Amino acid sequence: MTGVDPAPSYDGQALGVARGLLHALLPHLEQASAGAVTVDQDARISWINHSYARLLGATPERLVGRPIREIIPATRMPETVRTGQPKLLDVMEFRDQQFVVTRLPVVEQGRVVGGLGFVVYDDLQHLAPLMGKYRRLQEDLAVARRALARRTARYSLSDFVGASPAALEVKRRARLAAGRETPVMLLGETGTGKEILAQAIHSASARSERPFVGVNLAAVPENLLEAEFFGVAPGAYTGAGDRAREGKFQLAHRGTLFLDEIGDMPLALQAKLLRVLEEQEVEPLGSNTVQPVDVRVIAATSRDMDRMLAEGTFRSDLYYRLNVLEIRVPPLRERLQDLGVLCETLLEEIALGGELHAELAPGALDVLHRYHWPGNIRELRNALAQALTMNEGERALTADDLAAVLPLRPAAAEETAAGERPAAPVRPLAETVAAAEKAAIDSALQAARGNRSQAARMLGISRSVLYEKMTKLSGKNDI
Ligand SMILES: Nc1ncnc2c1ncn2[C@@H]1O[C@H](COP(=O)(O)OP(=O)(O)OP(=O)(O)O)[C@@H](O)[C@H]1O
Ligand SMILES: [Mg+2]
Repeated sequence: MTGVDPAPSYDGQALGVARGLLHALLPHLEQASAGAVTVDQDARISWINHSYARLLGATPERLVGRPIREIIPATRMPETVRTGQPKLLDVMEFRDQQFVVTRLPVVEQGRVVGGLGFVVYDDLQHLAPLMGKYRRLQEDLAVARRALARRTARYSLSDFVGASPAALEVKRRARLAAGRETPVMLLGETGTGKEILAQAIHSASARSERPFVGVNLAAVPENLLEAEFFGVAPGAYTGAGDRAREGKFQLAHRGTLFLDEIGDMPLALQAKLLRVLEEQEVEPLGSNTVQPVDVRVIAATSRDMDRMLAEGTFRSDLYYRLNVLEIRVPPLRERLQDLGVLCETLLEEIALGGELHAELAPGALDVLHRYHWPGNIRELRNALAQALTMNEGERALTADDLAAVLPLRPAAAEETAAGERPAAPVRPLAETVAAAEKAAIDSALQAARGNRSQAARMLGISRSVLYEKMTKLSGKNDI
């Protein structure tokens, strides 16, 4: 191996220890330091004193020869050996302890041939204020990372399943939207995939590394909406606490804000939202200062916006500001040719990890083709899941399995009319009640053509109760 010299060169400027000197130092280090270790060129432990070995819960004999990272996963010693750069003070984690450490390269004839590390402090009592701050920062970082992970989009365009001309047109427009910064308006009935599209547009846009923040206007009580949107200044009102609370606009800064069910936005808030979009700054509740925000807005609704505009329940100036790029998401009945591939994807998702027989028997698809799908793909997913539960995934789903779970059963209805009603199987009461609620909600939504306020009125319940029930019954876990 002549002529090959893998040792990194040492620039002579950085603080290093000459190998010759190191040997003379070791006996002193054995006594003097709370912890001392040397590694070779491959960052394997070549020597370690007893007190360090004890801190690490082993003996020197068991540690020598082992890669240091195997023993202390958080060590940066391999970097010091690789780069020749010393680290004069660093905080290093080991299990649930922190050590303050120093790392120096060991050099010989201008080459880095190893590293020397000391534990400067292992008993961090006297560094308590500093370490307390360090720990708090670490905790804050972990909290922020978790929050950020929740604020990322889960879907991409390939999750919008379908190859019908109508589905392809939706995807084409979504790609167009991803390449621009303009606001997007997603219009479509309930369960057509607006949430998927909003996330997919964000994921394919230049903002994909930034947060995706969704707010569902139908789900937040009206009196809390403003705080939810714009945040709250410290001590803004009794009980507001002494810490500022960020609003969705601040959380979505530099990213995408998804305003779901925008048609449910109260008029007073519409005026405020318009101002924020125009000025690109928000004023938290109880504060007299404004904060600049940079958000890309995607809005969605299943309401009949033309009617709301005509009736004056939605401001047209706000609507046209939001609706720069409009994407109409077609209902399932207008893209029935996607049923096959949708079933395949949904069944696979539902049965994921299970041993279930997630496929359709011949003829089953015909039943689905004949149905009119007021709840669109969400309803399809629920019907498949229900049918799969009922046949316990033991065989492919038949036409009868599916007809049994669809709320309107043309064939069954005719039978009933002919007086041949079969004895209904006994099911737990909660299941029967849930099925009845679902059927009532489905028919109300259908009669109201997807308008939830109207459907709620017909059912004699409030819009938020309707929303709650829809979420619960569909078992959906969307944002
Ligand atoms: N094109 C699609 N491909 C695959 N799954 C879809 C598609 N469209 C919708 N889904 C599924 O249907 C369910 C409803 O979709 P989503 O929540 O995006 O609908 P939505 O239009 O936002 O409905 P709502 O107006 O009720 O909020 C989800 O489980 C979603 O995964
Ligand atoms: Mg939605």
